[in-house]
Amino acid sequence: MTKIYGHRGSKGYFPENTLLSFHEAIKAGVDGIELDVHFTKDQQLVVIHDETVDRTFNGTGYVKDYNLHELKSLKLNQSFQSYSNYQSSWELERIPMLEEALDVLETAKVELNIELKTVMFNYPGIEQKVLDCVKKYAPSLSVTYSSFHLPTLVRIRELDPAAELGFLIQHPIPSLHDYLRQFKIDKVHADKALFRHPLLNLDVELADVRVWTVNKANDLVDFLQAGVDTVITDYPDRALRLRNEL
Ligand code: G3P
Ligand code: CA
Repeated sequence: MTKIYGHRGSKGYFPENTLLSFHEAIKAGVDGIELDVHFTKDQQLVVIHDETVDRTFNGTGYVKDYNLHELKSLKLNQSFQSYSNYQSSWELERIPMLEEALDVLETAKVELNIELKTVMFNYPGIEQKVLDCVKKYAPSLSVTYSSFHLPTLVRIRELDPAAELGFLIQHPIPSLHDYLRQFKIDKVHADKALFRHPLLNLDVELADVRVWTVNKANDLVDFLQAGVDTVITDYPDRALRLRNEL
């Protein structure tokens, strides 16, 4: 059965990549959560999508230029007040540390996909930090480490031969199959527009296919019927309902 992962928690309904968003996705009944990590100036792991804080919090500038305690003082961007289910309690949300998210997920016993956002900045040492953090705070959690940046995955494979790896792709990569074999990458996390591409016609023994970000009902039905390993969606309740109806 295709698994349903909440993208940045339940991004369609709640402020993305917050503990609130993770709790709500878990409440909806997801099989797993997808979240994004960056490194702060003092090399702490924080859960946020963009390289900068501007879009989602009330500050400006790169995450990498803030110390953790400075990031923790930022409040949600006012744009979230336009959400139809907005509540003033959302004002309490802060940028989570990875360990805070791991605590929530370990307790809930759902799976996790940690995307290491290492495309614009490589964040030297982030791979070991992420592995150590998971080992310490969520030792029983089923985790896939994904990145668009192949060297990040190669480094994780060097550090942990048993780690589950997902290669994020948005464009056809001619050497994809060679990379999967060479670096023992377990999954391809593909933009939904790539799903019918011949490169993704993969032998199940080579890699599983996960598809993101699938939000429209007709697309969800398509991918669920195609039997992809996982769909990653902003609207977990919609995907779960459609899966039940199949
Ligand atoms: O992991 C799937 C998806 O999250 C990758 O794209 O930009 O939403 O992080 P993005
Ligand atoms: Ca992501």
